Amino acid sequence: MKSAIEELEKMLDSMKIETAEELEEFRINFLSKKGKLADLVQQFRSVPPAKKKEFGKPLNELKNKFDAFFTESQKLFNSTSSEDTSFDFNLPLNAREYGSLHPIKIVESKIYDIFHSMGFDLREGPEIEDDWHNFTALNFEEEHPARDMQDTFFVGKKVLRTHTSSVQIREMENGKPPFRIVMPGRVFRNEAISSRSNCFFHQIEGLYIDKNVSFADLKYTLYSFVQQFFGEETKVRFRSSYFPFTEPSAEMDIWAGTDTEDARRLTKGTGWLEVMGCGMVHPNVLTNCNIDTEEYSGFAFGMGIDRMTMLKYNIGDIRDLFNNDTRFLKQFSGQL
Ligand code: PHE
Repeated sequence: MKSAIEELEKMLDSMKIETAEELEEFRINFLSKKGKLADLVQQFRSVPPAKKKEFGKPLNELKNKFDAFFTESQKLFNSTSSEDTSFDFNLPLNAREYGSLHPIKIVESKIYDIFHSMGFDLREGPEIEDDWHNFTALNFEEEHPARDMQDTFFVGKKVLRTHTSSVQIREMENGKPPFRIVMPGRVFRNEAISSRSNCFFHQIEGLYIDKNVSFADLKYTLYSFVQQFFGEETKVRFRSSYFPFTEPSAEMDIWAGTDTEDARRLTKGTGWLEVMGCGMVHPNVLTNCNIDTEEYSGFAFGMGIDRMTMLKYNIGDIRDLFNNDTRFLKQFSGQL
């Protein structure tokens, strides 16, 4: 009896369990009703009463040791029966989560792709500008009230650009015509924040300068853009407008209709929705950039990307675009 106990104890000490199957085998071999421990208990029953004391204690200790070994091993392979829930071995592996492009970036790329297919290249410029590039070179006169059209943030003697038109000037100063470029970027205006306007937003500027460019080219280019972006049936209209840097100037509207509640709210009941400003580049602007107005002419346009994003995805509040709420942003994954 004594040697049988010692033998089992030795077996337990050298026991290594590495898989759940091995653990089950162990349970059957040692702990089940027909297992080695049960055998030993059976033998113990036939030990004469006088000797029972001698073997009772070590046998009990051996049983406890086996039980402890089993529960410890069980924790490794079966977390549901474990008290330690900090690591759940049964959880399926998480498929890797990918991030997604921001909706503004998705729409910017869509707009760029359309213009790129018409031969426009991509350019960028700085967000902190000097007065010359943001205003003066664009034919805003010193005390001209047009400077107040766009409430400006000042950074010392510089400004946070109020529009991407400043990039037109940089490109024309540094290059030679012809120009056929689009220039996306962030712009800043000191405006009250609401569901419709924010103190920063995104624009994409377009510039086309060459020999014999006419207003008809402008209309055709923007019209085909809108057809590709919003659909072939989209109705547009050009409304005359004013910008210091274009003459004549216009605003382009698209027909959103008055059928739905959303359309009436967005268009303030008119059915028409303004999507961009445009016009023939003012001769003063070309002269400021040393471009010969006898030889060259061209058009420019600028549209709000945030606005286009809200239209495209039916987003009611511009602030949703910048709260970084992943529940909102996740809806756009895989959109491009
Ligand atoms: N810069 C103008 C704005 O921010 C838009 C515009 C660009 C108008 C180019 C005409 C030509 O409102």
